[in-house]
Amino acid sequence: MQPIESIEAMRRQVRDWHVAGLTVGFVPTMGNLHGGHLSLVDEAMARSDRVVVSIFVNPAQFGPGEDYETYPRTRESDLALLEDRGVHCVFLPSVAAMYPEGGLLRTRVEVPAFNGMLCDLSRPGFFNGVALVVTKLFNIVRPDLAVFGLKDYQQFLVVQRLARDLDLPIEIIGAAVAREPDGLAMSSRNVYLGESERARAPVLYQTLCALADRLRAGNTDLAGLRREAMEALSAATMKPDYVEIRRAGDLGEPGPGDQDLVVAGAAYLGRARLIDNVRVNRPPID
Ligand code: PAF
Repeated sequence: MQPIESIEAMRRQVRDWHVAGLTVGFVPTMGNLHGGHLSLVDEAMARSDRVVVSIFVNPAQFGPGEDYETYPRTRESDLALLEDRGVHCVFLPSVAAMYPEGGLLRTRVEVPAFNGMLCDLSRPGFFNGVALVVTKLFNIVRPDLAVFGLKDYQQFLVVQRLARDLDLPIEIIGAAVAREPDGLAMSSRNVYLGESERARAPVLYQTLCALADRLRAGNTDLAGLRREAMEALSAATMKPDYVEIRRAGDLGEPGPGDQDLVVAGAAYLGRARLIDNVRVNRPPID
């Protein structure tokens, strides 16, 4: 497996593969890899001849007071995991290479359709930071396909829309949420959970599943279901951020005719902010 740090060398490598007629899959990450990332890698490996994984803790997607400085950086163990998985190349650009001139990029990338809702309300600017770095990484790596985890469902829709709207010739693939045996969605930030917080953490997924079951059973009182779910999170001594029931395709408020929904939630637990979601195909409403 080849670690590459320079943008030029990364471009050259993928150009050579494309000239040789090989397809290239891409998995962008911020490192501190776990089973969830490895499931994205497996998806990319199954669908392409060569796989590039990037590891870059992107300062543009952290807000003031968030954990940019302390975000776990575990380069050596990450490289060992990727080597084991058979990944062909790891791209490790520096902050100075990605954000030259002291980081003062004058170009913004924004997908406003998904701003002003769900995670954007408590992390304003996060999706703009993601959209910017993903656009840059796509332009550097030039993959044929890229795999993103569906745990970050809003992020997945942002990237999918961005690729579509900017005519990027990249297939965006969403990979199923990878879970611990007790249901907790795998996340790099789960390391922030203390022992008793870790024991309570699966309540988020359980609460979203319970809400989803009631939608499937034909309950149409969305406001009541959301309120009860928020109360269940508080009862587990989490600080609920939001629970929302939205159209799966565009995160709009569902009307009576909408059946394909996503139940999404976020809650603070100690130093961690957990997010999760469950897809629901509810029965038609008469
Ligand atoms: O999901 C993540 O790990 C990050 O938001 C991403 C897509 C790698 C962009 O920095």
